[in-house]
Amino acid sequence: MQIREFLSSDIAAVKSFTDEQIGQGYYSLEELIASQKKSMGPNGEISSFVLVDSVNHTIKGLRLAFQPGQWAHGKGAKLRPDLWPFSLHEAGYFQSLFVASELQGQNWGPRLSQKSIEVFKNVGANGIITHCWKESPNNSSFRYLQKIGFTVIIEHPLYWSDIKYICTRDGTPCQCTSIEMYLKI
Ligand SMILES: CC(C)(COP(=O)(O)OP(=O)(O)OC[C@H]1O[C@@H](n2cnc3c(N)ncnc32)[C@H](O)[C@@H]1OP(=O)(O)O)[C@@H](O)C(=O)NCCC(=O)NCCS
Repeated sequence: MQIREFLSSDIAAVKSFTDEQIGQGYYSLEELIASQKKSMGPNGEISSFVLVDSVNHTIKGLRLAFQPGQWAHGKGAKLRPDLWPFSLHEAGYFQSLFVASELQGQNWGPRLSQKSIEVFKNVGANGIITHCWKESPNNSSFRYLQKIGFTVIIEHPLYWSDIKYICTRDGTPCQCTSIEMYLKI
């Protein structure tokens, strides 16, 4: 396995990965193109990373992480900057993190995230905001964020109901809750 920057040439392969792992259509091609651009810093530093199978070159993981100044909110609109210890323009954003099911629980998620944190530090960010998926299988979303050091800000019930996609948990339109969290870096 290899961790490397998410490049524009990866977009089609990443779309297949997110359709399979997150849910069909959770990311459109246009949104992934925009997400890759939001990962570019002022001097071309890329803060989003992919986990790639070194043998057959398929995508096995994705850490989308947006640069300070390149994002206004996550997939949903709910955001509480009034409760953060830093301001929006100083903050990077952890969008989705997904690891292929057969590789979960092997620390690839934290390793991908650590790469993004290093880039955020280098561009002078003071913190990171994310929306944890409260109902994630095995509570893996909350557990990896807590392990990295994220602090809970507030819960947003029905956060994902604004997004039209079928939840991989139960095959119905997603009604899941998010937990907004921050990390000072
Ligand atoms: C969340 C996710 C990206 C974390 O990446 P990861 O490489 O699995 O991270 P870790 O190996 O650190 O595992 C995180 C925790 O979940 C647990 N976990 C992960 N997969 C598990 C599994 N299949 N069965 C049981 N526990 C599991 C781990 O034991 C670990 O807990 P611990 O550190 O308290 O022991 C990954 O598990 C995943 O893709 N989950 C499904 C999608 C998801 O929830 N994404 C986050 C949306 S914001």
